[in-house]
Amino acid sequence: MRETPIDFQTVKEKIKSSGLNSVGRASIREIKKLVDEIENATGERFIRMEMGIPGLPPSEVGVQGQIDALKKGVAAKYPDIQGIDVLKKEISRFVKLFMDIDVREEGCLPTVGSMQGGFAAFLMLSRLFEERDTTLFIDPGFPVHKMQHRVLGLKFDSFDVYNYRGEKLREKLESYFSTGKIHSVLYSNPNNPSWICFTEEELQIIGELATKYNVVIMEDLAYFGMDFRKDYSKPGLAPYQPTVAKYTDNYILFISSSKAFSYAGERIGMMVISDNLFKSRFENLLEHYPSAEFGYAMVFGTLYPLSSGTSHSAQYALTAMLKAANDGELNFVEEVIDYGKKANIMKKLFTENGFEIVYHTDIDKPIADGFYFTFSYPGMSAEELLDELVYYGISAISLLITGSEREEGIRACTSLIQHDQFGDLESRLIKFNEDHPI
Ligand SMILES: Cc1ncc(COP(=O)(O)O)c(C=O)c1O
Repeated sequence: MRETPIDFQTVKEKIKSSGLNSVGRASIREIKKLVDEIENATGERFIRMEMGIPGLPPSEVGVQGQIDALKKGVAAKYPDIQGIDVLKKEISRFVKLFMDIDVREEGCLPTVGSMQGGFAAFLMLSRLFEERDTTLFIDPGFPVHKMQHRVLGLKFDSFDVYNYRGEKLREKLESYFSTGKIHSVLYSNPNNPSWICFTEEELQIIGELATKYNVVIMEDLAYFGMDFRKDYSKPGLAPYQPTVAKYTDNYILFISSSKAFSYAGERIGMMVISDNLFKSRFENLLEHYPSAEFGYAMVFGTLYPLSSGTSHSAQYALTAMLKAANDGELNFVEEVIDYGKKANIMKKLFTENGFEIVYHTDIDKPIADGFYFTFSYPGMSAEELLDELVYYGISAISLLITGSEREEGIRACTSLIQHDQFGDLESRLIKFNEDHPI
């Protein structure tokens, strides 16, 4: 029997009845269920950092746009698979105004969340060349992308970028590309889970090698504009959201509306295919698709059989949000900046109490404050730490499921933590530090 911030006996019983051998090895959803049960049994509120879901209300402009569209009757009509014209126009404007890149409207496609964009892209990219059968993940990364590969029966390889920042990235990437097996590369930027952001130099390296080896780069911008060290919120004005699109014309961008516009529930995202890739022809595609042209095969050969397009009313919601952002009437970055403020306070509380930030720099700059951060505690593995933190009312996930090689690392998500919980967080971390002297 021990004195812990959350009643020791109750936590122990709940872990036992959950059937989990170890909290540290449980999936995100298993941890969620366990913590729900402990909270119900004890009446204590946890510092819940396990799930990466928006902690803010949805963008009002979007909700209004969607309601208006529903009232006009769009629910009865199938949307065009390639997306409604007004949305395609606003996506193209959005990438011009916030990334300073030119993409024709035809390559701007709505998808059922970024998740579907990834699924569709993986399906096609694995079929471009007979001899190329592998996707390369620059990890750590979002575990569901690997799950998509597994269900599709597709091969992938990966490496943890921790030791390959800056110029070192070139040699590492080239070692994979030169095998002739890699058709595409995926990374998220800012990165889920580590919140590292590639520098311009790194994006340039990735872009140059993509062109040299004719490899497609999938850039996952699920956290668009959320590197709050710079202000990417002004349409048409530098600085712009950094992107590999500046350095190669062989790319697909996934821009999610889930976090940037807090619109996760409506499952709508954007897939932006470069003009060059959209028009590129791959004879190998003809085995599965009606056309060898990448863009045509994506729309009529992939998105069509997957879901016949994206929810009609959600497309209007996204059109309204993008138009407002493009016209300078909606500062979508400002709306989510609180994630960064919370991360700043939380990281301080953790590091003042013996914890360390695992992915702590972008080469020579401290990492940004944002949606996620990673931490560890000296002398403890991630599994041991997660198992122990439950007794202190703190829940999170291990980095091991993200392809990270940092065995001590934990991912913390800032989104659901309320400012009035910082007092609890501080006292629990102080107690943890006292109980586990370094
Ligand atoms: C890196 C990354 N990619 C993609 C997604 C999924 O985005 P969407 O909700 O648009 O499907 C997420 C969601 O957490 C994510 O973190």
